[in-house]
Amino acid sequence: MADHFVDRSLEEIRFWSRIMKEHSLFLKLGFNCDDTQLIREADRFYSIFENIENQSLAYSSDTDPQTIYDFNKVVHGAVCHIWAFKRKVLELIIHCKILGNNFPLLVDHVSREAAYFMKRLEQLNTGTLDPLPDAVINENVFFLKIMADHAKFINHLLDPSERKLVEQARDFSHDFDQLLFQAIDLDSMRPESLTQPLLDQFVDQNRVSVRQLRDFKKTAYELIEACRIKSIIPPLLADHVFREASHFLEILDSFELELSATK
Ligand SMILES: [Fe+2]
Ligand SMILES: [Fe+2]
Repeated sequence: MADHFVDRSLEEIRFWSRIMKEHSLFLKLGFNCDDTQLIREADRFYSIFENIENQSLAYSSDTDPQTIYDFNKVVHGAVCHIWAFKRKVLELIIHCKILGNNFPLLVDHVSREAAYFMKRLEQLNTGTLDPLPDAVINENVFFLKIMADHAKFINHLLDPSERKLVEQARDFSHDFDQLLFQAIDLDSMRPESLTQPLLDQFVDQNRVSVRQLRDFKKTAYELIEACRIKSIIPPLLADHVFREASHFLEILDSFELELSATK
């Protein structure tokens, strides 16, 4: 149990601290160059999460659980701060106090990812991770919205002249909106919807679409990296959304395994 706690904590922190670090960079790139205070704050978060990432890589399965418990608390504090920063930026944009290139939906999106990370750290430290059937619904409701948002960002950041790719991104956006609504319906039908056959089908269906979206993002990343398509998507952003899709796919694969083990 204790080993599981250490591995699980390190896994989550290694993945999400790199994500938080990159969010700081993306937000910074989207600020107007006169907003030096915001740029400085973003830089500070970049180095905070870079340090956390390095620290998490220095720990291992053998690290004392108490040390990891304390580390989780420190990381939780940092995530709480970056979440508040993101919400402050969202408020400034929505109230037209700042101008820049960060879409409000993107800022909201990165704040939701921070909130998810914060909650996971709380669950790990209090030993209150969701039981499997609830985890299946909760993770899907969260990640399907994330995937639907990504498709919308890609759609808007590709050059309009890339008509075929824009069309594909729009199709993914529609597909994931539909999957998200289905997930919300299952959520609303809880606890009656928590049956093995329904959850099996739900995970299978979502896996098919997530695999397709992940492959699309991988292709987009390679095309952007090789300068073969026109867009204002930095290669790092393309890679970032690809990694988030891979992460979701890994979660779905583990659900599939756990569900078939309970049969
Ligand atoms: Fe992200
Ligand atoms: Fe994301």
